[in-house]
Amino acid sequence: MNQAYTRCTDGDKPASAEPPQNRPTPSAILVRGMPQILHGAPVQAKILQDLKPRIQRLDRPPGLAVVLVGHDPASQIYVRSKIKACRELGIHSDSHELPANVTTEELLTLVHVLNERPGIDGILVQMPLPKHVDSRRVLEAVAADKDADGFHPTNVGYLVAGRPAPRSCTPAGIIELLKFYEIQIAGRNAVVLGRSDIVGKPMALMLLHENATVTICHSKTENLPEMCRRADLLVAAIGRAAFVTADFISPGATVIDVGINRITDPAEAARLGRAEEYAIKGKVVVGDVHPVDVVHAAGSYTPVPGGVGPLTIAMLMSNTVELAERHLETASHLESPKGAR
Ligand code: GUN
Repeated sequence: MNQAYTRCTDGDKPASAEPPQNRPTPSAILVRGMPQILHGAPVQAKILQDLKPRIQRLDRPPGLAVVLVGHDPASQIYVRSKIKACRELGIHSDSHELPANVTTEELLTLVHVLNERPGIDGILVQMPLPKHVDSRRVLEAVAADKDADGFHPTNVGYLVAGRPAPRSCTPAGIIELLKFYEIQIAGRNAVVLGRSDIVGKPMALMLLHENATVTICHSKTENLPEMCRRADLLVAAIGRAAFVTADFISPGATVIDVGINRITDPAEAARLGRAEEYAIKGKVVVGDVHPVDVVHAAGSYTPVPGGVGPLTIAMLMSNTVELAERHLETASHLESPKGAR
């Protein structure tokens, strides 16, 4: 299971290297290989490629409404990337940018309009919303059958029950990534670090459905490094830069890093082995996993950037196409009821 290690027999060492009594037993001798880097781009490309014929078969393009509130730079970048992905794939996108002082009621009105709008199959309200907005009410107002993010309680319920429904994009993308790289999930000890509604909780459920033995750890968990070291498969989603250091990682484990943290302090960038990049760009982006430690400890890992990020967008496209297929199928049944065909 620990893919970056090859066991070394006594024959690999010169006979005179150590007196026999001091020599480690063969099972204790592990020679460190290079870990496998789990890039997101080829997985994203495959997911999007597989969607193209499904989109071409539809009577009209799928439609996604994207709602962005305020001027958070990270949210603006994410939304732009989502709209670009729609354009490249032939998905119609309908963008709604609202000022940071928008009220909950105004947002609810927009969501209700989008719920009724023909040609819109999916609705995405970019999170986080400003603090004064009741995010829960807004997310719950999105019709469950237009919920491109898989955040609606009805769809979360379907996930718990293991029934098909839109699924939260980041954890769904991680499952696709693990399958693409043929990383075993069933029977492995999976630890999910973080319990957010968007990533941690749905991730744990998806891994459970793939027959992993799952533990969820969070800020109140005792002996966090020790708990994480039990993982063959560690998913870090806590939003703290480089929090997961070598002492959290079992040698050879698969480490999935969901974090996206901007580092603007040069000393911190240097400590994380990114001094050169900082000197060029004036900032660096790191995940929740220490970027140097993971290379030395893990058997395989997702890089930041370029690991999980591209998959979130791919799964948003996938959810949107699936919703469009359902809407068009329902419409065709309504047009030609049984017996009238
Ligand atoms: N903010 C961070 N990730 C997400 C996501 O997957 N969907 C939405 N709507 N907002 C986010």
